[in-house]
Amino acid sequence: MVLFNIAAFVTLAASFVSAAVPSSERFDLSKPSYDLFRSKPLHDDTVQQGFAFDNVNRRLFVSQRRNGASDTSGDLCITQLDFSGKEVGHMYLKGFGHGVSFAAQADGSATYLWTEVDANGNGYGQRLARFKFVNGATLSKTSSSLKKYTPVAAATEHTCAIDPVHNRLVVRYQLSGAKHIALYDLAAATKGDFSKPLANFKQPLPKTKGKNFQGYTAYGKYLYMLWGDSYDASGGVVNSEVASVDMNTGTVTQGPLLTKAGSTLSYREPEGLAIYKTADGEVRLFLGFASGKAGDRRSNLFYKNATVV
Ligand SMILES: *[C@@H]1O[C@H](CO)[C@@H](O)[C@H](O)[C@H]1NC(C)=O
Repeated sequence: MVLFNIAAFVTLAASFVSAAVPSSERFDLSKPSYDLFRSKPLHDDTVQQGFAFDNVNRRLFVSQRRNGASDTSGDLCITQLDFSGKEVGHMYLKGFGHGVSFAAQADGSATYLWTEVDANGNGYGQRLARFKFVNGATLSKTSSSLKKYTPVAAATEHTCAIDPVHNRLVVRYQLSGAKHIALYDLAAATKGDFSKPLANFKQPLPKTKGKNFQGYTAYGKYLYMLWGDSYDASGGVVNSEVASVDMNTGTVTQGPLLTKAGSTLSYREPEGLAIYKTADGEVRLFLGFASGKAGDRRSNLFYKNATVV
């Protein structure tokens, strides 16, 4: 009886914590994607990994491994592009991580980036860092201009993305051999307060038939995830898939569904998801793809904008 009561209490507490994200519309992943731009060079030549919008200052940033860096160094290049895909700046980060997902946050007219940092032996960042984007600068993982965070103390790897419409930070972390997702109020997270996650659950669909995980982001109540491989790895088959997850239950709402965005690109490796709200108020779920030849990889961004309530 006592055990039963404790179990009931734990279940109640868990369901209270995990149902804290207000309801919202979600993207219909079965609807078409539109082009923002195709085949744009980044500052360095490697495939893009992730991308992020500073939605207030309307800036776009793309991550890639620094030219010549090893798989495990964690050395990244961040390119700032305008919305036509033209380079307007870049920054180098030494010892940070893989770059699968990162975030950009306005602070007045400056942009602060949130990235993984302190790359482990596999090249994945163990913690998060927040720092000002400074065109032309190189930061090492020990730079005093970094503010570092460990949202989940026992987690061994962290990455993040921002929901710029609801001002939330979504964190993907590695714990006990599995990926998990936690959602935080962005203002609280910026202050280093991770004590009240709005959601916290084990990532569903850890493997979709062996395809690589390629990105995630959040909008309102829903998490979006992207998988797939380059044509070189898939044998020329479009295998990119997207899915949405209800963050209050941690279960899949839609998908994984095949996306054929940019199917005519060469190479075409799916690389990153991000949310952006236009000046006209249209909210877009952006999907990134790398294209082109080794030594001259290009950036491509597409978006979905059809929503359902
Ligand atoms: C989605 O974007 C396309 C292309 O820019 C546009 O024609 C369409 O009106 C947009 N739909 C919504 C629901 O915003």
